[in-house]
Amino acid sequence: MSIIEEIKKKREFSGLPDSIVERVADIKKDDVKESRALLRKYFGVFLTNRIFKGKLLADEMLATHMSSKKRDYAEFYEKIFFEIGNVGSVIDLGCGVNGFSYNYLRKELGNINYIGIEATGQLVEHINKYFSSEGFSAKVIVGDLFNVENVLKILRKQKKERVVFLFQVVDALESLERDFSKKFILEISKECEKIVISLPIESLGGRKKFEVQRKWLIDFLEDNFKIEKDFEINGERILVVDVKVKNKVP
Ligand SMILES: C[S@@+](CC[C@H](N)C(=O)[O-])C[C@H]1O[C@@H](n2cnc3c(N)ncnc32)[C@H](O)[C@@H]1O
Repeated sequence: MSIIEEIKKKREFSGLPDSIVERVADIKKDDVKESRALLRKYFGVFLTNRIFKGKLLADEMLATHMSSKKRDYAEFYEKIFFEIGNVGSVIDLGCGVNGFSYNYLRKELGNINYIGIEATGQLVEHINKYFSSEGFSAKVIVGDLFNVENVLKILRKQKKERVVFLFQVVDALESLERDFSKKFILEISKECEKIVISLPIESLGGRKKFEVQRKWLIDFLEDNFKIEKDFEINGERILVVDVKVKNKVP
């Protein structure tokens, strides 16, 4: 049995793309236990059995997931999209269970085209079932964000103005490849108009994170684009970035 198969024997990892499992196994030098621990930290910790079974209502799904449970989605989307201009589509990268908030998004933007990319296959299935039962013009697909070409291909097909969500995903990407987020944001900025980034203000253990940890990201964004909004809401810092405006004159 290959190391990837061995790691994926645990149900919680069975729906992950092989490319992600392989990346983690490489980092952890093929140690199965350590690889699973790292995967659990960024891909599994949010997935309780209740989410896996997928038998909950949309609001219950949002309330069960670590990243979304503190959000007041009506206020969250209202603040993000207030005076933001025309939006043709929303592309939610590393979406987790966020698709279950489509109804709130719809209240803000009308029947907006929504597409999510998420590594955890089990979640994708549940969210798509929810979309089709409600008749929403939305879908989520299984994918690995490290496959940048694939992400660009998907972005290219979406309607302008394209707004990309990167909600609480930077830490996961950085944990597998340091400084990847900067390259990633530069690449995807070629195929979208705005990027909304959310960063947890508190760490998983509840301790306040040092502001300096984010400095590299904020500096990078300021150097390359225009940060249109920067606010805190319910334990998250939200940055709305216009990637078509170069802010600094060198
Ligand atoms: C902290 S959760 C945030 C979920 C959601 N964006 C939110 O804020 O509600 C991080 C999500 O990113 C996904 N993710 C992390 N790395 C990924 C990758 N390389 N490709 C696809 N999804 C990824 C994880 O599976 C997880 O669902």
